[in-house]
Parts: sequence; C-alpha cells; structure tokens
Amino acid sequence: MHYLLTAENSKGHGVHSPFVFDFIKNVLRDKKKYSIYKPIEKLREKLKTDKRVIEVKDFGAGSTVMKSNTRKVKDIAESSLKPKKYAQLLFRIVNYYQPKYVIELGTSLGITTAYLASANPQATIYTCEGDISIAGIASNTFKELSLKNIELVQGDFAATLPGLFSTLPATDFAFIDGNHKKEPTIQYFKQLLEHAAPAAILIFDDIHWSREMEEAWEYIQQHNAVTLSIDLFFIGLVFLSPDFKVKQHFTIRF
Ligand SMILES: C[S@@+](CC[C@H](N)C(=O)[O-])C[C@H]1O[C@@H](n2cnc3c(N)ncnc32)[C@H](O)[C@@H]1O
Repeated sequence: MHYLLTAENSKGHGVHSPFVFDFIKNVLRDKKKYSIYKPIEKLREKLKTDKRVIEVKDFGAGSTVMKSNTRKVKDIAESSLKPKKYAQLLFRIVNYYQPKYVIELGTSLGITTAYLASANPQATIYTCEGDISIAGIASNTFKELSLKNIELVQGDFAATLPGLFSTLPATDFAFIDGNHKKEPTIQYFKQLLEHAAPAAILIFDDIHWSREMEEAWEYIQQHNAVTLSIDLFFIGLVFLSPDFKVKQHFTIRF
C-alpha cells in the first residue's frame, strides 16, 4: 500500500469509514489515464513557454515567488497552478461525486478549472479571479479547450462572492485556492458553509503552506459542522454529510 494512513479516532486500526475506504480505492488510487488529461496538460506546457508580460494586481498571500506587478505568463504557469497530480485528483473527485454547482476561488490561467469543467459537463463551474489580465488568459484557456460550462467571475472575492451565492441554489463543491491567509480563508469557509448543500465537498489548498494556513485548516477541521476531513498535505478535504455522525479526521500520504 502506497498510503500511510492514520485515522485519529481509530488509533491507527485502519480505515473505519466505508466512505473513506471507497474514496481511497476509487478516487485517490484511480490510475486511469482519462482522455482529457492530455489536451489540458498540453495547454499547460504551452503556457509555460508563453513569454508575454502582463500587468497584474496582487490579490492575496501566495505570491512570495513573484513580487513585481508585471509578470511573464510562463512564470505564472510554472509557479501558481496546481500541479497535474492534484489537478487530476480534483478532476477525479468531481468525476466520481458529480457535484452540480462547483466554485473555484482563484482561477489563475484556468488549468485546474478546465479539469473541474471536464469532469462534469452537466455542472457549471463558477471560477473567481480578481486580476483582469489573468482572467483574460483563463478565458482563452477555456476557448482553446472548447469548454462551455464555465462562468468566470471577475473581481475581488469579497465583492463577488455575495452576488454569486445569491444566484446559486447551493454549493456542492468548492476549491479554495486564492488568498492564502488565515482570516480570509476562514471567512470563505464560513460563507461556503452557510451556502453548502448537505453533502458538499470543500477543498482547501496549501493547508500547511504557512502558520496562518495551518491555523485556518485547524479551525476548519475542528469546526462543529465538519465531521469528515482528510489531510493530503498539499490540500485539505472536507466532506459534509448528515450521515457522518462521529467526527473523523484522516491523514493520508498521497
Ligand atoms: C494560486 S492561484 C490559483 C491557481 C488555480 N486554482 C490553479 O490551480 O490553476 C490564485 C489566484 O487567485 C487570485 N486571487 C487571490 N486572492 C484573490 C481575491 N481576494 N480576489 C480575487 N482573486 C484573488 C490571484 O489573482 C491568483 O490568480
């Protein structure tokens, strides 16, 4: 077994949650090469060679690598996007659980969005990006991949989220990959929680990236509404469900 797995409540006696067992077997360990992986990765590689320089506005923590407000597209493609291992896992999660209303906070060049959108053509992916130049490149990504089920919401999350929530019946899935600071992350979590479908999936990026993110993840994990959380180190997963009666937290090496 490749995965070192610990369940805090079960003192290491293996996986007691049938839900988590199923997740590991059918989603995490699914090694199938889905046909959409190739065109999306081809486009990622193309963006990694894109020498265009764009003006960008810094919207949040997470830009420690690049301080200036002009950036090369290729540098963003190298350093800001979720690597394919994780983007493809997100694809498999959406593909397996088929959430209908999907939100992504932090579009960047739209590569992870493309995975989310390809995983459930019946769903609409609402992806939020503050920077107008970056959003423009993301729109092009969606066009190049002929993806039609994406709504790009441009503007600061603080300004756009209330409007977005008021137009959606609920949120079934959210990937929070924007402002990597403690308070904003907790605020997004609370807002998402208020608006979450009973079996919503919330995924937080870079939960161990900084002390602030560690604290935000700790808060989320401890929250009363969260009965099942999984730490994959680079991302943290929260599965909401009225069926999960006992609070469980798993750490899985992925
Ligand atoms: C890490 S990148 C997203 C990467 C993308 N999810 C992927 O995996 O390809 C974070 C993006 O969020 C945007 N962002 C950060 N804070 C924001 C805020 N408060 N409002 C709007 N956009 C924000 C940044 O401009 C940046 O493009």
